[in-house]
Amino acid sequence: MQKNNHQLLSIAPMMGKTDTHFRFLSRILSKKVFLYTEMITTGAILYGRKDHFLKFNYVEKPLSLQLGGNDPEALKECVRIASEYNFDEVNLNIGCPSERVKKGNFGACLMESPRIVGECVKKMSEINIPITVKCRIGTDHLNSFYNLKNFINIVGQTSGCKTFIIHARIADLSGLSPKQNREIPPLQYDYVYKIKEEFPDLNIIINGGIKNISAIKNHLSYVDGVMLGREAYKNPWIISSFDEIFYNKNGIDQSRHNVITQYLEYCLRRYEEGIPLYQTMRHLMGLFQGMRNGKKIRRYISENLSKPGFHKIMKKNILSSVI
Ligand SMILES: Cc1cc2nc3c(=O)[nH]c(=O)nc-3n(C[C@H](O)[C@H](O)[C@H](O)COP(=O)(O)O)c2cc1C
Repeated sequence: MQKNNHQLLSIAPMMGKTDTHFRFLSRILSKKVFLYTEMITTGAILYGRKDHFLKFNYVEKPLSLQLGGNDPEALKECVRIASEYNFDEVNLNIGCPSERVKKGNFGACLMESPRIVGECVKKMSEINIPITVKCRIGTDHLNSFYNLKNFINIVGQTSGCKTFIIHARIADLSGLSPKQNREIPPLQYDYVYKIKEEFPDLNIIINGGIKNISAIKNHLSYVDGVMLGREAYKNPWIISSFDEIFYNKNGIDQSRHNVITQYLEYCLRRYEEGIPLYQTMRHLMGLFQGMRNGKKIRRYISENLSKPGFHKIMKKNILSSVI
């Protein structure tokens, strides 16, 4: 199952989840999986603390910066800045349905304005770094396959964009919350498969509701890559099998015990630099899923995390329970 595609498998951008710490954990689990930042708006980068939003640990590479915005010049400037920080790629978010994003007229509502998206990506592409688009299959207004094909065609033709990551459900912009918009509109994988058939030269990555290795294998027989979001966060151990199964690399020769040791050491290093333990440790919780003592360890961490002196004993205490 080897395809010549650096984005064969990726972990979805998720606000509040895929920060630099979770990406570090993901990289312990797979050397190959492609990673994304959380969405960052152009305004935050142009007028905010750049280092805060853009600095990352080099081991996280290959890493894509996901941007939210709709102003071609502002997006281009952000791409230029991203290239200075040495991101491998910049991705434009055309899938976020939140009220705040809708008010700003970017994210999923731009599914209805392919020419604007094309202009944005064209401008962004003036900087020498790959630009990709993450979108939905449509909106509640424009939800036919024809509309999706039209979107991909116009954006591709206008900008030369070669890679589309498609979350295989519409964004319902009539009032559903972002969470409902990840659950209620039905998954329509066949739309994404058909896009690959219609545009065989494009790199098409499928996303939405993918939860296990056999589902990943099945999707890869239709499209070029698979992106996992919630499942990878809830159950990060799934990431540990990627290199061996999908990249023909020797699997990371390590047990869950090893992975947890490495990550706890990372948390302690960050703690010494002033980063509170809860910011790093919260990402570890999913790794205990399915383990014999998992529930007990999770409870131990939640109950003690903010107690003084926890950093001195946690590694020993947690590891002694990891069987
Ligand atoms: C908590 C959370 C935050 C998310 N934030 C983003 C985001 O910043 N950018 C984005 O493109 N998608 C975001 N998404 C959507 C995911 O990238 C993904 O498209 C969606 O969860 C469907 O994939 P899944 O079923 O594998 O989770 C978010 C999803 C979740 C659960």
